[in-house]
Amino acid sequence: QTNKPYLIEFPSIGASEIGYISVSEAQKNIPFDIERVYWTYYTPESIVRGRHAHHRTEQVLVSVMGRIIVNLEGPDSSEIITFVLDRPNVGVYIPAHYWHTMQYSHIAVQLVLASAHYDESDYIRDYQEFKSIS
Ligand code: TYD
Repeated sequence: QTNKPYLIEFPSIGASEIGYISVSEAQKNIPFDIERVYWTYYTPESIVRGRHAHHRTEQVLVSVMGRIIVNLEGPDSSEIITFVLDRPNVGVYIPAHYWHTMQYSHIAVQLVLASAHYDESDYIRDYQEFKSIS
């Protein structure tokens, strides 16, 4: 049984007069222990990033600024699930074995919380391989 992707709404603590704080905590609103945090930025709008799945790594993506369109394809069907991240208090959970692609507005800053350290052998970068093992 594979986990399913879902949108996470983080708490927005504060008010418009003073600004806001959003918080992610492992095993609370993040469904794994966070081992790695990385962020991407200045991606041209014409570029599609991602184009891979992972054997084990689970991730949560947040657009802390700008807009990110996330397309996900699961292991059991070729249905594409689309999530639009355009608020800093919203993220999407991407389970292992989900092929993902992302497109960014130029100002977008993507924050990623990951369940594992970087390991190239955990990547499935070949779409045919993804389809054959899913
Ligand atoms: P990749 O995950 O393919 O980027 P994206 O999914 O955004 O297109 O990674 C791009 C490059 O960065 C690749 O050479 C691996 C390197 N990288 C690391 O060294 N450590 C990391 O934690 C990540 C995510 C990538």
